[in-house]
Amino acid sequence: MEPTYLRIFERAKAFLDTRDNELHTRIASAFAERLLDAEGGDARVVLPAILLHDVGWKSVPEDLQLKAFGPGHNDMTINRIHEVEGAKIARRLLEEVGYDPKLIDEIVEIILEHDSRTKALSLNDAIVKDSDKLWRFSAEALQVDPKRFRIDPGVHTRWLKLQIDGWFITETGKRLARQEQRQRAVQFGVADPDEEDV
Ligand SMILES: [Fe+2]
Ligand SMILES: [Fe+2]
Repeated sequence: MEPTYLRIFERAKAFLDTRDNELHTRIASAFAERLLDAEGGDARVVLPAILLHDVGWKSVPEDLQLKAFGPGHNDMTINRIHEVEGAKIARRLLEEVGYDPKLIDEIVEIILEHDSRTKALSLNDAIVKDSDKLWRFSAEALQVDPKRFRIDPGVHTRWLKLQIDGWFITETGKRLARQEQRQRAVQFGVADPDEEDV
């Protein structure tokens, strides 16, 4: 990742030390780079947006965070706080690092509704949304989420498979999600025997 983006990530870290968000952000931004390669999109918008999209969780007390996301939990009032506060923090951090002002509005707009907006505004927005969701299929997330949600990792992995068509916008997002899900399913012994490797 280019030094400009690493500088943004360094600044973001102070806001990511909650909810395992630093790890989440690292993994999601690696997926974003793969999606940019395959789908196009503007890295100058997508990478700062994914690096900063969850900085607003720092403004939500940890006991409330678990009510706002995950299987069976979708308190959108709490979730909305992390979007609105995150958009403000992101703008401030981007201005502090002297980021191109012509790009800041688009980045902040993506962050402002990255969970609550159901349709993507643009390819850049779609890549951010897909990267954010792809994290959940990663080996690292499967170390974190089942414990957090108190679910068996195999059951969680099977639940993830059912979400793929509804969650992902880009074809590459769907393909990577299937690949990752298959790997986790094998890992937890819940792969369908008739399913081919993708
Ligand atoms: Fe988020
Ligand atoms: Fe996220």
